[in-house]
Amino acid sequence: MSGEVIIKTERLSHTYSAGTPFERTAIRGVSFEARHGEYVGIIGHTGSGKSTFIQHLNGLLKPEAGRVLLDGADINESKDARRRARFRVGLVFQFPEYQLFEETVYKDIAFGPRNMGLGADETEARVREAARFVALPEDMLEKSPFELSGGYRRRAAVAGVIAMRPEVLILDEPTAGLDPRGRDGLLENIDAYNAERGATVIIVTHSMEEVARRADRIAVFEDGELVMNGAPADIFREGERLQKMGLGLPKAARIAERLRALGVPLGRDIFTIDAIRDGLIAIKNGGGGNAS
Ligand SMILES: Nc1ncnc2c1ncn2[C@@H]1O[C@H](COP(=O)(O)OP(=O)(O)O)[C@@H](O)[C@H]1O
Ligand SMILES: [Mg+2]
Repeated sequence: MSGEVIIKTERLSHTYSAGTPFERTAIRGVSFEARHGEYVGIIGHTGSGKSTFIQHLNGLLKPEAGRVLLDGADINESKDARRRARFRVGLVFQFPEYQLFEETVYKDIAFGPRNMGLGADETEARVREAARFVALPEDMLEKSPFELSGGYRRRAAVAGVIAMRPEVLILDEPTAGLDPRGRDGLLENIDAYNAERGATVIIVTHSMEEVARRADRIAVFEDGELVMNGAPADIFREGERLQKMGLGLPKAARIAERLRALGVPLGRDIFTIDAIRDGLIAIKNGGGGNAS
């Protein structure tokens, strides 16, 4: 699971168009850290600063104040440090398939490894490995990205980042616009990368369901600030506070709440359907629902 801190921000702030009438402070004083192998979900209302924040983690945006540390070293210390950070911290943008531009899927996935200066053999190994991680069939590699369905185009774009074998994989709303099958498939691919490579995953999402089950930790942004940061159980216990931010609880957590209101002695830390089932079975067997 989780080890030492790999990436960390210290009081990070960013203002767009500073000094113009369009000035807008997007994030303010964000201190955050993620550990090796950790799976972190980032949630927050539209405009709360999530995308701005994550673009600092690989040096794409420069902080107006504060620092980004990768293994304790400031990634903005030099051009070289920023370049190295970009290979170690892989960022998948929102709707990344719009950035596919090569004539074949293979070339698109190979773009990152080539850019890293890897030779043809190593690049090919990386491309095939990345394609396997995202369950992209081999025969699609020689197709044009535009021949693929939306779901596979998304996978190809994710593979392009995975091919750099980032130690930290960051994805900005990776499932937006995918159908349920495409969504679940992609989330499983990301889980596999996290588990098999021991990579840190930071995933921005609108869906509580997506992170309830798999995240070690959830970070909540509101109006440019990191306002909550903890284990899913601790975050979901604050249903009212989340609701005030325009964020809902996972469906299963709401069902559990309803059942508790009806007198079913289910515990408070239940926010997946599986946990409801286990709780109900325990109650039926006379063990009680672990109510608290
Ligand atoms: N390139 C930009 N120029 C000016 N303002 C921006 C830019 N990108 C984002 N913003 C503003 O910064 C705030 C945070 O945006 P963003 O980081 O995209 O939030 P989120 O990803 O949570 O929706 C919003 O008010 C948004 O309008
Ligand atoms: Mg965003």
